[in-house]
Amino acid sequence: MATNSGWRLLWLCLTLGLLPGLSHQASIAESDYYTAGVVEFRQSVLSTSPWSENLAGYLEIIQSANASETDIIVFPELTINSMGPQTFVPDPTEQIAPCLNDPSALYYAEFLVSLSCAARNVSKYLVINVSEKKLCTDTPEDPRPCAYDGLNIHNTNVVFDRQGVVISRYRKVHLYGENRNTTYEPELETFETDFGVTFGTFTCFDILFYTPAHQLILEQGITDFIYTTMWFSQLPFLTAVQTQQAWAYANNVNLLAAGASFPLVGSSGSGIYHGREGALSSVMVQGTGERSIHVAQVPKYTVRRPIRQRRQRRALGTSREAISSSNFTMKRDYLENYQSELLPIAENQSGNLTKDICYEKFCCHFDIEWRPLEGGSGRSASYRLGAYDGWRNEQNVDANYIRNCGLFACTGPTLEECGGLPSSEKLEEQGLRVAFTRLEIGVTYPESREFLLMPNTVLDDLLPLEPSRFEWSQEQQSVDSYQYDVRFGLRDSVEVSNLLTFAIYGNYYDDKCTFGVGSEEQQVACGYKNGSSRLVLFGAGLLMPLLLLLRG
Ligand SMILES: *[C@@H]1O[C@H](CO)[C@@H](O)[C@H](O)[C@H]1NC(C)=O
Ligand SMILES: *[C@@H]1O[C@H](CO)[C@@H](O)[C@H](O)[C@H]1NC(C)=O
Ligand SMILES: *[C@@H]1O[C@H](CO)[C@@H](O)[C@H](O)[C@H]1NC(C)=O
Ligand SMILES: *[C@@H]1O[C@H](CO)[C@@H](O)[C@H](O)[C@H]1NC(C)=O
Ligand SMILES: *[C@@H]1O[C@H](CO)[C@@H](O)[C@H](O)[C@H]1NC(C)=O
Ligand SMILES: *[C@@H]1O[C@H](CO)[C@@H](O)[C@H](O)[C@H]1NC(C)=O
Ligand SMILES: *[C@@H]1O[C@H](CO)[C@@H](O)[C@H](O)[C@H]1NC(C)=O
Ligand SMILES: *[C@@H]1O[C@H](CO)[C@@H](O)[C@H](O)[C@H]1NC(C)=O
Repeated sequence: MATNSGWRLLWLCLTLGLLPGLSHQASIAESDYYTAGVVEFRQSVLSTSPWSENLAGYLEIIQSANASETDIIVFPELTINSMGPQTFVPDPTEQIAPCLNDPSALYYAEFLVSLSCAARNVSKYLVINVSEKKLCTDTPEDPRPCAYDGLNIHNTNVVFDRQGVVISRYRKVHLYGENRNTTYEPELETFETDFGVTFGTFTCFDILFYTPAHQLILEQGITDFIYTTMWFSQLPFLTAVQTQQAWAYANNVNLLAAGASFPLVGSSGSGIYHGREGALSSVMVQGTGERSIHVAQVPKYTVRRPIRQRRQRRALGTSREAISSSNFTMKRDYLENYQSELLPIAENQSGNLTKDICYEKFCCHFDIEWRPLEGGSGRSASYRLGAYDGWRNEQNVDANYIRNCGLFACTGPTLEECGGLPSSEKLEEQGLRVAFTRLEIGVTYPESREFLLMPNTVLDDLLPLEPSRFEWSQEQQSVDSYQYDVRFGLRDSVEVSNLLTFAIYGNYYDDKCTFGVGSEEQQVACGYKNGSSRLVLFGAGLLMPLLLLLRG
């Protein structure tokens, strides 16, 4: 390692004459924030040379006035060379800037060289996601058979620093049915910046798993994440921005999320999130997608202050517009697995309901009050209350274990009509003509080795509720208890309409070592003692509050 940093120093010295002038806007290590840009990017599909057309789009954004203040720009998953050409990616320890080391692009692909040059030119950190080729012989310890051409193909996040040097290379762990190779061992990748922030990176589907992102938080105290995605939104719980904001909130970290923009196949959703304060900027587009950069000043956790008032609101949140199924292709969760009940909303009438919905032993307590909204044709909105304790219904890819409680919108009274967007006709004639004046979910959650409980909401414009409108608490029942009381509700005097989902998403990942699950021997082996004192010390439930405390 010492040799590497030595080389870096030498390399910097040798190339000093070629260094571009450092931008005067660059955030420095002492500043209490940095400026980030996330790019929502519509990929070229029809062009004869998609990669060069995508590259031109990247360069235009990098050089745009909107990007001028940024320290770091994040581009989404596979929006540059998914249709080729693949590229080699230098090992970060070698501190290679393709722009300088391979200016004619003889070894690295041309787009990689161009982007390395662009990073130097504007003196910014750039994060891109590429289709990488790698020699199998680079990993001699991997016993798996290599492909005939001697190459592994990875989906890889590449980070350039302000000098165009590749300082990080992260290969995705949880593939979503892609025709790609996994790494022999999961690689936990982080990188440091000159503005004093260390980032972890992860991709897309990874957000539903413990490794790598949640693990980086608990084991390395990482507070800032780069997330590149081509997400396929699913109702009621997993639309893109809904998932991003919930994750950043639950972990209380900064998340820079850049999404591929292709709403007609279900992809969109980018944002910059500051933990418990929610989105500093977020966007969910419809129709044919767009190419745009969303910029925000991101407070650093090291200099954390109570609540910053000076934050920017959502980039495009001013003119909210309900999204219909003709403008966004939405997947639907397999809600038939849920225990659910129709909320008894009578036409033109206020109402209330206090009710437990249980999925076997797992019970969700709902406390709800609503009133009708003026202006509809009088047809009532439909909502269901649901509970589920089990594996997420996923074929062919990794599934995660969930314990969910939620209220979700339906276009009619049957369960089949829940978890979708209304058609544009239905949207016009019906809308969601009800406002919730009170909405609270209370649940007792068991501790587990690894778990993450998230406030999960989305409105009909596919953006979530801002944290200023809800209250969330997760409290251990007593110091020696393995159970947590979670309350998620609207703040007093907050009224919410246009709601699609209001839920607690309890992600238990692989459900290993969950309190109360399995035989008594298993419970003891997991460190749960049936008595007064706690033995378990590695549980996420214990570590997390501790880390949050430390970060103050
Ligand atoms: C460098 O950036 C400027 C704008 O910041 C742009 O006009 C110029 O074309 C860029 N040069 C290269 C070689 O990318
Ligand atoms: C990588 O993927 C190819 C094609 O699916 C496969 O033939 C090869 O065995 C994989 N390599 C490794 C190391 O798993
Ligand atoms: C890069 O994009 C691909 C393509 O969708 C994605 O599967 C992969 O996870 C991304 N890589 C990383 C490291 O996030
Ligand atoms: C949404 O769909 C409607 C009906 O098909 C159409 O009139 C409208 O222009 C679309 N909006 C966007 C943003 O694509
Ligand atoms: C640049 O910012 C302006 C104002 O926020 C916005 O209207 C425009 O769409 C942005 N352009 C891009 C390419 O993001
Ligand atoms: C709840 O609804 C019942 C009728 O179902 C009504 O009598 C009662 O006043 C309502 N309570 C509140 C607090 O609105
Ligand atoms: C509800 O209100 C609408 C509009 O005011 C009216 O047309 C409709 O008949 C009412 N429905 C009932 C059941 O009162
Ligand atoms: C724990 O102990 C109580 C009585 O002290 C007993 O009722 C219960 O079944 C025990 N549970 C487990 C998981 O051992």
